[in-house]
Amino acid sequence: MEATARAHTNIALIKYWGKKDTALKTPLMSSLSMTLDAFYTDTTFIHDSNLTEDSFYLNKIKQNDNNSERVFNYIHHLQKLFNLKGHFTIYSTNHVPTSAGLASSASAFAALATAFAKSYQLDLSLTDLSRLARSGSGSATRSIFGGFVKWIKGNDQTSIAVPIDQNPDWDLHMLAVEVNTGVKKISSSKGMIQAQTSPFYLPWLERNDEEITMMENAIKSKNFTKLGELAELSANEMHATNLTATPSFTYFEPQTLKLIKLIQELRSQGIECYYTIDAGPNVKILAQKNNLSAISSAVHTLLDNVKIVDASFGPGVKFLD
Ligand code: PMV
Repeated sequence: MEATARAHTNIALIKYWGKKDTALKTPLMSSLSMTLDAFYTDTTFIHDSNLTEDSFYLNKIKQNDNNSERVFNYIHHLQKLFNLKGHFTIYSTNHVPTSAGLASSASAFAALATAFAKSYQLDLSLTDLSRLARSGSGSATRSIFGGFVKWIKGNDQTSIAVPIDQNPDWDLHMLAVEVNTGVKKISSSKGMIQAQTSPFYLPWLERNDEEITMMENAIKSKNFTKLGELAELSANEMHATNLTATPSFTYFEPQTLKLIKLIQELRSQGIECYYTIDAGPNVKILAQKNNLSAISSAVHTLLDNVKIVDASFGPGVKFLD
């Protein structure tokens, strides 16, 4: 009747940026991510025949119909899938430092799918859960597992996440730099559709298998340079499709570009670091421990008042009972 699950968010090193099927949320490309320890969502799902309505509380605040719609539609979809009925209450808490400026839909839908399945005692594998999480938010597919995770493009059945290394013995950090935490003007769903008008989109898609293989090899051989270069390339390819779409758009803000140039400059000084950027202006910097303080102070010197959160590998979903 009641179950609580925790899921950590993830950041793609090889980006997902396009749906093959909007309803099923199957992607046009495979992607590969790093699950992060610093950011997670705890979600309790309760179903009870005495309940008279569906409700959704986010960070202890009851959400209105508008804010609850996506979550309710998702649960109704899952209930239909498993032939279940009845009202429910969802309590969700985002443990994402308010400063991080990171999207939380990946951890949110992974935690929700997991708590839903347990509360109804559905006997599902982690692979099944990754498929269920996918229909809430594409990137949530990967948050079922920890460490390095691949999301295989596939079809409705085969589009699932597979762990590459759930507990990597790696000195790898991601510094999340907050540029702006405001709500983005172009949602990722809309951005993904618009980007497909870019003449660079198809050539990028054709490179997907090769980029995934190269990233898997970089992970296997613990080659930080290769991993960083590939992650930066994938982010640049994604943002290049936005800039060359019709109409063209970008998530970058002036501070985003300042940070890109700073990272290039730091590299030329021998401080090895790389960036990745999602559907927003915030920059995540990949670096190793010995360079974290030099990078952080360079960022603070360049931009007053930005917040930086240091993250490393996080675990897959778990139950909190
Ligand atoms: O699943 P969504 O709608 O949050 O899309 C995520 C898209 C990116 O974050 C930009 C890339 C990715 O692979 O996570």
